[in-house]
Amino acid sequence: MKQNIIILGTQWGDEGKGKIVDCLTDRVGAVVRFQGGHNAGHTLVIGGKKTVLHLIPSGVLHDGVKCFIGNGVVLSLDALDREVRELNDAGVPALERLFISESCPLILPTHVALDLARERDKGGEAIGTTGRGIGPAYEDKVARRAVHFGAFQDREYGESRLRALIEWHNFLLVERHGLDAFDADEIVEQQFALFDAFKSQCVDVARELNTLRQAGERVLFEGAQGTLLDVDHGTYPFVTSSNTTAGGVGAGCGVGPRHIDYVLGVVKAYTTRVGAGPFPTELFDDTGARLAERGHEFGATTGRARRCGWFDVVFMRQVIALNSIDGLVMTKLDVLDGLESLDICVSYTDANGATVDWPPGTLQDFQACKPVYESLPGWHETTEGITEWDALPENARAYVSRLQELLGVSIDIVSTGPERSANIVLRDPLD
Ligand code: GDP
Ligand code: IMO
Ligand code: MG
Repeated sequence: MKQNIIILGTQWGDEGKGKIVDCLTDRVGAVVRFQGGHNAGHTLVIGGKKTVLHLIPSGVLHDGVKCFIGNGVVLSLDALDREVRELNDAGVPALERLFISESCPLILPTHVALDLARERDKGGEAIGTTGRGIGPAYEDKVARRAVHFGAFQDREYGESRLRALIEWHNFLLVERHGLDAFDADEIVEQQFALFDAFKSQCVDVARELNTLRQAGERVLFEGAQGTLLDVDHGTYPFVTSSNTTAGGVGAGCGVGPRHIDYVLGVVKAYTTRVGAGPFPTELFDDTGARLAERGHEFGATTGRARRCGWFDVVFMRQVIALNSIDGLVMTKLDVLDGLESLDICVSYTDANGATVDWPPGTLQDFQACKPVYESLPGWHETTEGITEWDALPENARAYVSRLQELLGVSIDIVSTGPERSANIVLRDPLD
């Protein structure tokens, strides 16, 4: 049995990770978020009912499954409070299932103000962040200024760290960005009130996960964002501020690399990106607009339109290696229904006209790359909701098979719709 399984995004996020985590959760004991924050938007659809999760792991709809927020996640207590309330209103007792690392760095209202101020000051150079304070919160973590969730257990210690951080943020907001200072007393009061609501959830996640492992429980590690948004390996500086790759799991929740049994990458049958930055296969024509419309490509967190383009095998080669991907879930195949033909980017031509089959290391070189396509015929039948491989149109099967051949990795599951049940399982990733 595969016990510890990582599920992560292989493109620029929104690959459908939430759906896949949810539909595999009925066979696991726990689901863990290990990086990112409420910049994520993971959509689950069950019987037509939609749930969008930002911070809480996508296993939360399952009774009896533990949901952990690891130390690698930057935690907005305010966002957590909203999400828990929404789930409660929908009849999901989220707090009964949720456990939060004492070492999560907190996101404060001042982090959000700094994120927005920096983006505004960058003008045309803006990254297009989600405006949730993610970057500034990770900066403070690395600078050893952050306040950990568990620090509030000792009021005096927690408050003094919190006040020191607010003072630093106010200095930046006023002196660097010309904005008003925040009222420190107000933030202290608000943060401690929120802490009181969640203090029973505070645990040593690494220790809990070790106990689950020894008890033989199966655990899913749920990535947020995608590999190309990784702060080290992505399209820097147009990235998020955490390690979204498989390597982020160990640091982000305290599970050693030898305890990981399987890495499952989630990939869309085409490519999308939200925010700025290079995107070699981006489409600016009717086909791009059609993908956006059929795929409902609007951000689950910010509602922004996602940029759309063809499948890119070149960066996927690197992504598979970076994460040691064992198998893939290909989502949104149904969105391609009705296209005359489909292009697959099999190599790039670089600025010197040379053929490139692996993405270049610098942003400038990557930006200069032009896609080289192989074209496959499309299909007119609908694939939405299909659960059997043989029921797919022949050309849809040929498209998936060709991608599997080009990528050299098993496509374990093909997803054919947003519903939990809309999957073709070709190889069970949990067995
Ligand atoms: P995540 O951030 O990776 O969890 O992905 P999002 O939830 O942000 O975006 C994926 C969107 O596609 C959501 O609206 C899902 O409901 C939807 N979705 C997931 N899988 C499929 C699929 O196979 N077909 C279609 N049409 N929609 C899907
Ligand atoms: P899920 O988990 C898609 C993008 C933002 C921006 C960049 C930096 O739903 O796949 P940040 O707010 O993190 O500092 O923004 O990263 N981004 C995402 N894009 N899906 C996400 O999450 C994203 N989270 C952040 O659009 O380009
Ligand atoms: Mg998303």
